[in-house]
Amino acid sequence: MLSAASRPYIAASVPVLREHGVTITRCFYQRLFAAHPQLKNIFNMPNQESGAQQQALASAIFAYAANIDNPAALAPVISRIVQKHVSLGIRAEHYPIVGKHLLDAIAEILGAAATPELLAAWAEAYGLLADTLIAEERKLYQAHGVEPGEYRAVRIVRKQKESDTVSSFYLQAGDGAELPPFQPGQYISVAVNVAELSLRQLRQYSLSGAPDSGYWRISVKREEGSPAGLVSNLLHDQFQEGDVLWVSPPCGDFVLAPDDMDTPLVLISAGVGVTPMMSMLHSSLQLSPQRPVNFLYATLDGRHHPLKRELDGLLMRHSQMQSYVAYERPAANDCVPQDYQQQGYLQLAAVPDALLPQNAAYFLCGPAPFMRAQRNALLARGVPERQIQQEVFGPSLLEHLQ
Ligand code: HEM
Repeated sequence: MLSAASRPYIAASVPVLREHGVTITRCFYQRLFAAHPQLKNIFNMPNQESGAQQQALASAIFAYAANIDNPAALAPVISRIVQKHVSLGIRAEHYPIVGKHLLDAIAEILGAAATPELLAAWAEAYGLLADTLIAEERKLYQAHGVEPGEYRAVRIVRKQKESDTVSSFYLQAGDGAELPPFQPGQYISVAVNVAELSLRQLRQYSLSGAPDSGYWRISVKREEGSPAGLVSNLLHDQFQEGDVLWVSPPCGDFVLAPDDMDTPLVLISAGVGVTPMMSMLHSSLQLSPQRPVNFLYATLDGRHHPLKRELDGLLMRHSQMQSYVAYERPAANDCVPQDYQQQGYLQLAAVPDALLPQNAAYFLCGPAPFMRAQRNALLARGVPERQIQQEVFGPSLLEHLQ
């Protein structure tokens, strides 16, 4: 618990953080990478350039300060960070390094305003948060039976084109052993050497197959002309069947809980956000054949509709499943109602009520504006907030804390 002496300094620095958070974080990264260039292998370097990670860390620091007396609000944030850190192989010894450069950056940007008392308060607050994260991360590494930063070699046993931009990679253990189980909705980090940066980079991909299928499957979207697609494009262009990938254990807390198998399930996704939903869909259909599942999906058109054939097959075989598709700009050969039911962005107001039951468990995944729109539409329909879970790809901005 934060000491009484530090408390007013942290409380008073919230507005200062609001003003300088991103500048402090940018300065922090410059210092960190100058002193420890090898850490560039762990961080998403294109995100550094776009400023997305600056945002994520700035919001985490701010969220911590704003919620210092509210552990319940902080818990979901901690859980998300722990899962992400474990997939990245973050070690306990990284924390003092990050702490030092963060405090140095606060001191540099705030200048005279960074009094010894303020810096001591932040050192204490950072230390408390770091201790919590280290302890939780240690537990998770132990649960997975891996050392921090230990990756597993998996072989690409099948590479399958799923749409104009998405391909699936089916993975099996390099040594022929069985891969550990995962929870539907979880992701793995994939480590790839990026020659043009002279770095190894890690990226997270949701597992898109059924948990008991005997393989892990990731479905990767090519991001043409975008630095954000650096690793995804390498996977598309340079990794073929028979090649080996190095991957983390399955992580992430956006999961379909095995004990919630009675209430209807509604999975709403857009674009490549379909991937964790596919895993949840397979899992639900297999493990609770009585449970109704409604699968709502938004994409550009039929050529950008990954895993469509697999979905159509499931729909034919499982009477408890219903599907609803919106194409933003349908192509001439996309047909209503066989291929899609709504034109334009997905509008839940126009979706039949039967597909959106009040008592359902809702899972959302897709670009942030898409999820905001669907979440607001669900709340407007009277769906209680506690029944809605969402996954953000990329650094989350912790909107619910701000
Ligand atoms: C108290 C200390 C820390 C806090 C509050 C913190 C917070 C965060 C947050 C909020 C995210 C984004 C999670 C998401 O929404 O996906 C994140 C990601 C990340 N963190 Fe930490 N973190 C801390 C310590 C560390 C340390 C010690 C390292 C190791 C050098 C580290 C490395 C990373 C990396 C590599 C990412 C992924 C983002 C990227 O690839 O650029 N963090 N952290």
